[in-house]
Amino acid sequence: MTDFSVRPLRSGSSGNLTLVENAGTVLLVDAGLPSQRGLSLALSDAGVSWDDVDAVLVSHLHGDHIHPSAVACCARHDVPILIHEKNVRAFSRRILSRSPASGPLRTFGGEPFSVGSIAIQPFPVPHDAEGLTCGFLLSARAGDGEARVAMATDLGTGGNGLYERFADSDLILIESNYDPAMLAGSHRSSHDRARVDSEVGHLSNEQAGKFLVRAMQESRKLPRAVILCHLSADHNTPSLAVATVSGILSRYGFGAVPVHAARRHGPSPRFFAVEAGRKMNI
Ligand SMILES: [Fe+2]
Repeated sequence: MTDFSVRPLRSGSSGNLTLVENAGTVLLVDAGLPSQRGLSLALSDAGVSWDDVDAVLVSHLHGDHIHPSAVACCARHDVPILIHEKNVRAFSRRILSRSPASGPLRTFGGEPFSVGSIAIQPFPVPHDAEGLTCGFLLSARAGDGEARVAMATDLGTGGNGLYERFADSDLILIESNYDPAMLAGSHRSSHDRARVDSEVGHLSNEQAGKFLVRAMQESRKLPRAVILCHLSADHNTPSLAVATVSGILSRYGFGAVPVHAARRHGPSPRFFAVEAGRKMNI
């Protein structure tokens, strides 16, 4: 039996931090809070401490995903930071140079690798950070098979080749950043609005819903849950995102899949990739 689970601890432009646990392995995907104290509090809210963390896996170099404060925490607790090899130079210049200390840094490329009992397959997504933005397919042994969690919290657009990454996942975490009408009525500059709406910015609620439909049409099984992430504070609400995505899934026959919105300022529930006591056979 596996306890493979995912729990967003913070989600949105004010900071992203997701806890992934399996069989004693504790992985953080992103650590983008602007203070060491805030990061430690977010972990303690979830009952873990930095000394429990095996690694921090960085999706991209925007400050709401990796922050110098996280580098300092990792240095103090000897936690390795994992970044894509194409992001090393920009990481050194933008993040490391602003941290009071630097700890172990490890790089990955396009090949799968593992942290403890969690296997990680990175894949590129179009989002516009310097270097490369990655989504991740995380998997763990579960009975005779494996359980899979697909996540990409900053996308921009979902195209051919990306749907397949999310197919047959037990849990899906995907960005559902904005409502187009709310964005159109925003006080933000036209430049900012155009960037959010662009193919290297963020996914709208509608785009997230349609992306999920495509991924589920490619799947042999449905996910146990969808968790919508990185909701805009100004151009979205959790209820609107959930209603919009759920409505699209229902129209295409996938209405049985539960849809949740990750919380911005506090821990979301813990989502398990496998039903308690059930073995997986894939
Ligand atoms: Fe980003």
